[in-house]
Amino acid sequence: MKFQNSLAFAKQLDRADALKSFRAKFHIPKVKGKTSIYFTGNSLGLQPKTTKKYVTEELEDWAKLGVEGHIHSRRPWLYYHKFTKKGLGALTGAKPSEVVAMNHLTVNLHLMLVTFYRPTKTRFKIIAEKGAFSSDQYALESQVKLHGLNPDETIIELKPRNGEHSLRTEDIITTIEKHASELALVIIGCVQYYSGQLFNIKKITEAGHQAGAMVGFDLAHGIGNVPFNLHKDNVDFAVWCGYKYLNSGPGTVAGAFVHERHATNVDLPRFAGWWGHNEQERFQMKKGFKPMSGADGWQLSNFPVLPGAAQLASLEIFQQAGIKNLRKKSLLLTGYLEFLLKEIKSDSFQILTTNKKEERGCQLSVYMNKSGKKVFDIITKAGVIADWREPNVIRVAPVPLYNTFEEVFRLAKIFKKAQKQR
Ligand SMILES: Cc1ncc(COP(=O)(O)O)c(C=O)c1O
Repeated sequence: MKFQNSLAFAKQLDRADALKSFRAKFHIPKVKGKTSIYFTGNSLGLQPKTTKKYVTEELEDWAKLGVEGHIHSRRPWLYYHKFTKKGLGALTGAKPSEVVAMNHLTVNLHLMLVTFYRPTKTRFKIIAEKGAFSSDQYALESQVKLHGLNPDETIIELKPRNGEHSLRTEDIITTIEKHASELALVIIGCVQYYSGQLFNIKKITEAGHQAGAMVGFDLAHGIGNVPFNLHKDNVDFAVWCGYKYLNSGPGTVAGAFVHERHATNVDLPRFAGWWGHNEQERFQMKKGFKPMSGADGWQLSNFPVLPGAAQLASLEIFQQAGIKNLRKKSLLLTGYLEFLLKEIKSDSFQILTTNKKEERGCQLSVYMNKSGKKVFDIITKAGVIADWREPNVIRVAPVPLYNTFEEVFRLAKIFKKAQKQR
């Protein structure tokens, strides 16, 4: 599409948007009494208006039924995680049995590493992206130490070429091939939190498997942002959080994917808890852990129903909108943002995120060459809720469920003005 730099054009795109009615399903925060331009769904997604109803229903059932709610509430708490499976499966391209809502992201990452990082004397190396989100780095580092290994000699970090900000798929594959005989695991952040790069999951997984390694992804910035085919792409495992594009609330329940070919293998080593035990005998409290088949066999604890209710509200909206439709709009929305930022023609910033649209999600990371924090503060005062990342990056993520082309236009205008005010 040939974009135009005008409000009239932005409004025309909004009128033509088949998903425009979805914005009304969300609470949009205000700044100084005015509706903000909220471009931070990559950090904390907005609250669906139905969240209150879903959570309130659980509070009512708890008040009315007490412990009996485990069986007799309208969505029995005993099986609550099962209600999220269809929605999570649709977003991740997985069978319902391959996904499970549980814990928090970093906890799930540790649980997956316990199972899928099984270093031997000869095969122990891990390939990860340099500058991965800190929690992922710490998780890897601590797991490596747990096996008595030295992280510096074990974790190989993928770096973009000099002068580039994105990793080339061919470079990732070459690194995998180079270390093939020693490689135990490839783990990458699917959409990179800082650069916004979306990696080629299929090709990376294929290369990792050819090398004889396990391959996992952190979907924190991917789930609800871009569609996935985790089952078909043969990914071994994945983890995610629920509070970003998944709109399930601050610190809410996270999730994990385990490919069927592993998930049905009850002999795989894992950390265990009673909720992962064969549910037919869970309450018999017998000695000897027997994991459930499927991703459910990695659960530790009983399900957090209140955050889970918030997740159900959100998943219902995703099911109505469809992740493929959302992606279609997202490509246009983020493409329009890119077009307008480029129109500013200033040397005081550059877009870090790749211009290849199939290699990015909603987010554009804007690297500020000078006075970045000042510009960020100016746009914040003007009603934009964006995100500042040290040392010099403003991340903006127009989200197709609730952001508009007009907002993209207004943001670019505010951003242009801020360049002059700084
Ligand atoms: C890529 C990535 N990994 C891990 C985390 C940490 O998640 P949690 O605190 O939910 O474990 C985040 C949080 O934003 C993240 O973006």
